[in-house]
Amino acid sequence: MSNIKITGKIPLVGEVRVNGSKNAALPILAATILCENPCCIQNVPNISDIFNMQILLQSTGRKGEFSKNCYLCEAAAEISPFASYDLASRLRASFLVAGPLVAKTGYAEVAYPGGCQIGERPVDLHLKGFSKLGITVDIQNGYVSLKSKKLRGNRIYLDFPSVGATENLMMTATLASGTTVLENAAAEPEITDLANFLNQMGANITGAGTDTITIEGVKNLSGGTYAVIPDRIEAGTYMLAAAATGGKVKVSNVLTEHLNPVIAKLRETGTQVAVGENEVLVEGKSNYKAVDIKTMPHPGFPTDLQAQFCAMLAGAKGTSIITETIFENRFHHLPELKRLGAKITTEGRTAVIEGTGKLNGAQVRAGDLRAAASLVIGGLMAEGTTIVEDNGYLFRGYERLVENLKNLGADIEIL
Ligand code: UD1
Repeated sequence: MSNIKITGKIPLVGEVRVNGSKNAALPILAATILCENPCCIQNVPNISDIFNMQILLQSTGRKGEFSKNCYLCEAAAEISPFASYDLASRLRASFLVAGPLVAKTGYAEVAYPGGCQIGERPVDLHLKGFSKLGITVDIQNGYVSLKSKKLRGNRIYLDFPSVGATENLMMTATLASGTTVLENAAAEPEITDLANFLNQMGANITGAGTDTITIEGVKNLSGGTYAVIPDRIEAGTYMLAAAATGGKVKVSNVLTEHLNPVIAKLRETGTQVAVGENEVLVEGKSNYKAVDIKTMPHPGFPTDLQAQFCAMLAGAKGTSIITETIFENRFHHLPELKRLGAKITTEGRTAVIEGTGKLNGAQVRAGDLRAAASLVIGGLMAEGTTIVEDNGYLFRGYERLVENLKNLGADIEIL
C-alpha cells in the first residue's frame, strides 16, 4: 500500500504532457492476438494495468516486451486460449482477450470477471453478442468458455452502449465471415482508436465513433506499427487539478476534441480554458461557480472524470448536483472528501455538493483509481496536510502522476 502526502493550497503552474490512453491501449494490446505478424504499439502508458495485460497476453503465447512506452510483440506462434483467474482478476479489461482468442483459435476459456468497487459490471452484453456471431457460450466453475466452428457476421443490437462489449465484438467480428453491424454501439474515442488499429492491420471497419459500426469480415490481420491516442482522462485530471487550485497549467499532447465535455463544464465554473492545436491552457479562478454534472456515454460527460470534478466542486461557491448514470456504485470518494471538510449528501446515484470554498487536510483512503485521483485533487486544494492511502490505484492508471504534479509546483510525495 502506498501513501501519498500532500500539503495543499499551492496553485499548480507550468506544463504537463499527457501519456497514451490506458483505455485505448488495453484493447489494442488484446487485439494483437488477432495479428499474424509482429506489432509495435507506441505511446503505451507505463502503468500497472498495462503490465498485467502484458503478463496475461504472455500466458496465451502472444509474447511481447514493453519498454519506453512501446509494446513490441512477436509474430503469432501457438496460441493457448486460456486466461486464468489469477491473471484475469488483476484487471477488468482482461475479458477483452475473450473475443480475439475465440476468433483466432475457435475456442477460449477466460475467467469470469468478478464485480469491482464501482459496481457489479456484468458481461452479459459481450456474451449475447458472441452468441449472435455463432459462438457457443458456457459458464462453468468461474470460467466462460467460448466455442465456435465458424464465426458468422450478424446484426447485433446492444441494450446499452457498453465500451467493453463494443470492443470485444468489433475485434471478434473482424475475422467472421460476412458483415456484422453493431447497433447502439459505444462511440468513445477509444473505440475509434481500436478500429483504426484494426483497419491498419487489414480489417474493414466503418462507422466507429458513431452508434452504428459495420465490420466486413476478413481472413486475417497482418501486423505493423501503431501509436495509441493521448489519454483524455489523464488530461482532464490535470485540467481539474489546475482549475481547483486556482493555477495556470498548459496540458499538452492532447486531442482537444476529446476534451469537449470537460472544457464546457470547466468554463461553466468560470475557469478559463484556451484551446490550442494539441494543447489546452487552463487558468483557475479563486471564486469559481458550482455546476451540475450528469455522466453519460460519449460524447456526454465521462464517468471517469466524475470523481475528480466532485473534488473541485467541493471548493466551489454554491450547490452542485452530480448524477452518475453509468455505474451503480461510483461515489466512494464522497465520504472521503467529507473527511476533508466537503459538505455532501447522496441519495442513490445523485450527490448534492454544497461548496464550502475551503477544505482541510486529513487522512483519506482511495477505493478505486479515479477516487484516488479525486482525493489527490482534494489534498491539493486543502489547507494543511493530507495523506491519501492509495492502495496502488494511481499507478494502475496514471504514469508519473506524483512527479508531474511536483513539477507543477505541488508539495506532494510518496511516503
Ligand atoms: C470502460 C472503461 C472504464 C469506463 C467505462 C465507461 C476500459 C478499460 N475501461 O469500462 O474506464 O469507466 O468504459 O466509460 O476501457 N454493462 C452491462 N453488461 C455488459 C457490459 C457492461 O450491464 O455486458 C454495464 C456495466 O456494468 C456499467 C455500464 O454497462 O454499468 C458501462 O460499462 P462499459 O461501458 O462496458 O464499461 P467497461 O468497458 O467495463
